[in-house]
Amino acid sequence: MIQISYLSRASEAMSAQALLALLMQSRKNNVARNLTGMLLYGNGTFLQVIEGDDAVVEQLVETISADPRHTTLQVLGRRPIERRQYSEWSMGFERVTDAGLQQVEGLRDFGASDFNLDFLARNQAVVDTLMERYRSPHWDPLVRELDAKDKVIDHLRNNLARARGCIEVASLVLESVTEAGKKGPLSEEHLRLCDSALGSLRQV
Ligand SMILES: Cc1cc2nc3c(=O)[nH]c(=O)nc-3n(C[C@H](O)[C@H](O)[C@H](O)COP(=O)(O)O)c2cc1C
Repeated sequence: MIQISYLSRASEAMSAQALLALLMQSRKNNVARNLTGMLLYGNGTFLQVIEGDDAVVEQLVETISADPRHTTLQVLGRRPIERRQYSEWSMGFERVTDAGLQQVEGLRDFGASDFNLDFLARNQAVVDTLMERYRSPHWDPLVRELDAKDKVIDHLRNNLARARGCIEVASLVLESVTEAGKKGPLSEEHLRLCDSALGSLRQV
């Protein structure tokens, strides 16, 4: 298996509906291709990690790099892995905001405006901390009693990430319905998109 991470710039600011469409498309395809990972979006910038079978990941990254929704894709890391780090996410997603960053240990001096290609490409430690957000805990089956407290903390952190992911999708649905509602009646396509997002929330 392989894990690839990259940064890119959105071609234009992504609306809630555009993000929801991208997320639903990615999750559906990734489940079918047994891919896992996470995607962060903020300040017109994407940070994505994708992992799975070598050929499948490489092929997808090639497809993604030709996607007109973003430009300047810059691969940050490409490494072989023995086990998945995002095993529970067909594509974990979060929008990067100042308020959200305030809650991340180690990122309090980092603002959403620093979430840009130039800064992130030069600060691997910040990227690592951001990527940590969705990483699933892994415990050796022989974990000692002594480590049990850490195990519980990791478990809680994981549940928190899951809850954050649900809130993120739910707010994308609400925002996109509000945005679309202001312009006129909801289209069939928009209704289908919301329906699929609600379906993915129910599976959690
Ligand atoms: C930032 C970004 C991340 C993406 N991530 C994924 C992904 O994880 N999985 C995926 O299948 N497509 C992803 N895509 C979309 C692909 O570029 C492409 O549009 C899609 O795979 C085509 O799917 P389809 O054959 O179902 O139309 C991403 C696109 C962008 C702009």
